[in-house]
Amino acid sequence: MSNKTFVSPEIEKNTIEELSKQLIKANSELKKLQEEREIMFANISHDLRAPMTAIRSAVDLALSEENPSREDLRSTIELIDRRSKTLEALVDDMYFLYSVSNVPKSLEFEKIDAVPFLEEYFYDLQIDSRFDDFEMLLDIEQGLECEISIDIQKMIRVLDNLFTNAARYSVRDCDGNPIKKPAIRLKAGRDNDRLMISVMDNGPGIPEKDLPYVFMRTYMVSNARTPESGKNGSGLGLSIAKTIVEKHNGTIECKSIVGEGTEFVISLPVCC
Ligand SMILES: Nc1ncnc2c1ncn2[C@@H]1O[C@H](COP(=O)(O)OP(=O)(O)OP(=O)(O)O)[C@@H](O)[C@H]1O
Ligand SMILES: [Mg+2]
Repeated sequence: MSNKTFVSPEIEKNTIEELSKQLIKANSELKKLQEEREIMFANISHDLRAPMTAIRSAVDLALSEENPSREDLRSTIELIDRRSKTLEALVDDMYFLYSVSNVPKSLEFEKIDAVPFLEEYFYDLQIDSRFDDFEMLLDIEQGLECEISIDIQKMIRVLDNLFTNAARYSVRDCDGNPIKKPAIRLKAGRDNDRLMISVMDNGPGIPEKDLPYVFMRTYMVSNARTPESGKNGSGLGLSIAKTIVEKHNGTIECKSIVGEGTEFVISLPVCC
């Protein structure tokens, strides 16, 4: 007796159609990943090259002087020191991102109450001098009680980047004028089986055309995507944040209106 199964032509057609749809989807996801990787390599090479060129020129200049003065030598060494720190930060962030993405068990989960965690985090910010010029607001839904399973240090790193960004990029409006009453709000509430945490500022906002790229590795919205200025970081902060949140089975999204402000919303599963 043959054990061949009969498959109707209709079912076969549907299966083939479904498979080809999946293939097309996988193909376009692969293409997107490849494009993202190319941009990442271009950005990383740019960001590595800029401080390295500065260090190289400083060394060449110092070596070319027969009798450099103490002041000249000191300012050269200070420049090398600043640029090396930029390089170190970039390499550290790249390694951190690599290990969170690829090393198994790189996260240590703990079940904790979300509200005391957020309150404690917020009170630490209030005594942090980087936020002295900001009105700091805490807005936790009344009666909110929920447990979440998180790697505390990694989640703090996510929040730190969101708050540092809010402070760093909300000082001036789109025209470059100081914002009159800069404010940063930490909001938390429950949406069914998810805890929603958001960090909002009333800064210049992010142009709509840039929004799809903010979580991309080493993307910086401003043209001054320069480690040279010493003002900005590696540009990996949001990419690291997204990787960490996704390792918690969560999501992070950015909503922004130019001239009004930016909000980053994290959604995390609540423990049953
Ligand atoms: N709250 C915000 N308001 C306006 N622009 C923002 C805000 N948050 C992020 N951005 C833009 O998104 C870019 C990416 O942010 P991200 O945190 O990934 O990198 P970074 O802050 O430049 O560097 P790093 O976080 O590594 O120190 C920033 O360079 C900035 O242009
Ligand atoms: Mg940042």
